[in-house]
Formats: sequence, C-alpha cells, structure tokens
Amino acid sequence: MKLNRQKKKAAPKITDGPIPEHIAIIMDGNGRWASRRGLPRTAGHAAGSEVFRTIATYCKNIGLKYLTVYAFSTENWKRPASEIEAILGLLDKYLREAVEKMERDGIRLALFGDLAPLGDSIRSLIRQTEEINERIEGFQVNLCLNYGGRDEIRRAAAAFARDCVDGVRRPEELTEEMFSGYLYSKGIPEPELVIRPSGEQRISNFLLWQSAYSEFYYTDLLWPDFTPSEIDRAIEAFRKRERRFGAV
Ligand code: FPP
Repeated sequence: MKLNRQKKKAAPKITDGPIPEHIAIIMDGNGRWASRRGLPRTAGHAAGSEVFRTIATYCKNIGLKYLTVYAFSTENWKRPASEIEAILGLLDKYLREAVEKMERDGIRLALFGDLAPLGDSIRSLIRQTEEINERIEGFQVNLCLNYGGRDEIRRAAAAFARDCVDGVRRPEELTEEMFSGYLYSKGIPEPELVIRPSGEQRISNFLLWQSAYSEFYYTDLLWPDFTPSEIDRAIEAFRKRERRFGAV
C-alpha cells in the first residue's frame, strides 16, 4: 500500500508576519449585545469583560507589547447609577484577579485616567498592581478608567504650566516629545492600530494625542462577540496600509 507522505501545508499564522507593538481598542457595543438578547445592559458589560480577558491573553501570546483598552470614560458618569456600579464592580473584580495572577501570567497593568473619584477599594487594588508591576517585564495592559483624551491633554498642559511657574521648565523649550512625557502614556509608544467594534466610526475622546498617526480598523461585530480571529483580521488589514506620516 502506498503511503501518502505528502504533508498538509500548515495554515499561515498571524505570528508569521510583523505584529504591531501597541494596539488600542474601544470596547463598544456591550449594551446593544445585551438588548438584542433581551438581557439587561449590565449582562453585556459582564460578557464584554470576559472577552477583554481573552483578547488580552491572545495579544500577549502573539507578541504584542501594549494593549490599551477604553473601560470607562469621563463621560460614562452620565449613565444610570446601576450601570456605573456594575461596570466599576467588574473592574474591581478584574483588579482583584490581576493582583493574584499578573505576576504568574507576566502581564503588567497600568491605569490611565483620573483615579481620584474612584472608590477606596479600586484605588487600593491599583496601588497593589503598581507594586507588582515592578517585578514584571514585557506585555502591558493599559486600562483607561475615568479617562478622557481632552482631560488628559488639559492635565498635561496644567502640569507643564506648573513646572514653568516652579522654574523647572520654560515655555519656549516645550517640544511634542516633552509634552508626551506629561501624559498618562509617558514612555509608551503610540498605538499603531486603533480598533473600534460595533459599527461606530468615531474616536469618542480616546487617546486624542497618541492616535495622531494611528491606523483605524472598524468592524460591525459587537464587543462581546469579538474574538482573537478579529484581532488577526485587524492586523492583516493594518499590514496592507501604507503609513506615510505626512510624507509622500
Ligand atoms: C461601551 O459599550 C462599553 C463601556 C462603556 C464599558 C466597557 C466596559 C467593559 C467591557 C467592562 C470592563 C471590565 C474590564 C474587566 C475591562 P456600550 O455600553 O456603550 O454599548 P452600546 O453602545 O451598545 O450601548
């Protein structure tokens, strides 16, 4: 009997090509996902937080360096109190898990946003994650929490002005690079790719400074339906873009 020795060609993997260093995601569509199932909006956020865990692990495994996600904006306080409570509850739960597992999993966690109005529990967990970060190298998740792009720029401008008043800086010496050092994202490369699911095609006050030259990828999928294959599709689309940074 003749054996068929011909090997089946392995399907190409996303890691066969270049992977961006930094991807940012607006996790949108949780509410619609829930409504379509006759569930409360909070069920959509719970499903979305599970998808976030899956996607963060996947991004780490394919060799991404930074994943930035929009979890709660400065505008989200306008939502009903029960929904705000549910989202902050999910974040509290995730931070608790992170404190337990981030060292084992090799995931650094940074928080972007005005953390002052958040409860003691969340702020204490964040302090713990900061201490654990000191012992971890490599992949980092940036969680945008009570974050707004304009608010971030306003704070940076105020901090720079304060340094000028204190005589540490002079207005004439301000460069874009120096200004970046006053943002939450200090020292982190700008995202090459920003992904927004749910069919909306706007920036919604997310990483306004940092996304100046980012490529955008939109999909109609709602965030709780988002999968690692969609990250692959976004990276494949990104690879086909010609990035000119204002040049010809
Ligand atoms: C946008 O969907 C989503 C949010 C405002 C909250 C995102 C929060 C999570 C995914 C949970 C956070 C938890 C972790 C652990 C990161 P939407 O509610 O605006 O959806 P809609 O546009 O369909 O109403």
